[in-house]
Amino acid sequence: MKILLSGGAGFIGSHTYVELINAGHEAVIVDNLYNASEKVLERLAEITGKPVVFCNADVADKAALSAIFAQHQFDAVIHFAGYKAVGESVAKPLEYYRNNLDTTLTLCECMREAGVSRIVFSSSATVYGALDTMPLEETMVSAGCTNPYGWTKYMNERILLDTAAALPGWSVALLRYFNPIGAHESGRIGEDPVGIPNNLMPYITQVASGKRDHLSVFGDDYDTHDGTGVRDYIHVVDLAKGHVAACEYLKDHQGAEIINLGTGTGYSVLDLVNAFQRVNDIEVPYVITDRRPGDIATCYADPTKAKTLLGWQAEKTLEDMCRDSWRWQSGNPNGYRD
Ligand code: UD1
Repeated sequence: MKILLSGGAGFIGSHTYVELINAGHEAVIVDNLYNASEKVLERLAEITGKPVVFCNADVADKAALSAIFAQHQFDAVIHFAGYKAVGESVAKPLEYYRNNLDTTLTLCECMREAGVSRIVFSSSATVYGALDTMPLEETMVSAGCTNPYGWTKYMNERILLDTAAALPGWSVALLRYFNPIGAHESGRIGEDPVGIPNNLMPYITQVASGKRDHLSVFGDDYDTHDGTGVRDYIHVVDLAKGHVAACEYLKDHQGAEIINLGTGTGYSVLDLVNAFQRVNDIEVPYVITDRRPGDIATCYADPTKAKTLLGWQAEKTLEDMCRDSWRWQSGNPNGYRD
């Protein structure tokens, strides 16, 4: 298949690009490099041994996007482009709603005009909100999101579900990611957060490398096995393979499906810190602090539907995730700015 990757130079997009090429597909990356580096493109060419087809364009720019659809005959689109910082979305809701909804609307309009009817969307487990029945199943009704970023994922799901219902022949996969960490095993691509990381694994790797003094563990009084928050960490390469499986599934199916991409296993903050220290033989000093507002105790997926529908399941272990995250960080202490 020939697949357009909106936001394909980002963390999950770049790993998905590699897995698509490995599986024999063609891919075109459209990205305005707002939150990604041009260096990713050289690294992708190096990993795959093939030139990368890249268009520097904003996915909300209708004229630019139409021109790309006129140039290529796409079989499907994977839509990663969007702002993704939870805290920033609380401070800048208008920017988040404008950008994250505009990109989806523009992309869908271009698809309709070009006769492209398959789309895989980068959604998030955040759309479930603060549900406390685990594991999370796709049929559960959301408890409401806790921030504008989450609501943009929720609204984009709604837009795509309504579009799939209205437009004959459309097929849509809404992939709800749990907590993606890890990096490609080459150590050449990985997560490159700007400034102080908000998410746990990038923070751990920066503490391990000496860039930050210590990790703050946000609360040890949750109702979990060791009191720290439990999440379903998934290796980004497994996640990427889930996208390949979703594209192949959409080829022969119509309508819309919501699909969790998680492992089904929850690990606590301290489980992750301890595994990281053990696997990489490196210290990660930490202190216990107050809970972070908006956090929930536990969140993990029921991954059954992905297995049944896509024939996909996560294969990599927590140790793989820790090893690969560290390989990326230690080989690229300043991310793509090295
Ligand atoms: C958050 C977002 C989610 C987004 C995901 C990206 C919410 C509610 N959550 O998930 O939408 O898709 O990031 O991966 O919007 N922790 C610490 N110290 C730190 C950082 C985190 O103890 O410095 C703890 C947190 O309290 C939590 C766990 O580590 O228990 C994971 O946190 P994080 O990596 O930020 O992910 P989520 O909050 O689960």
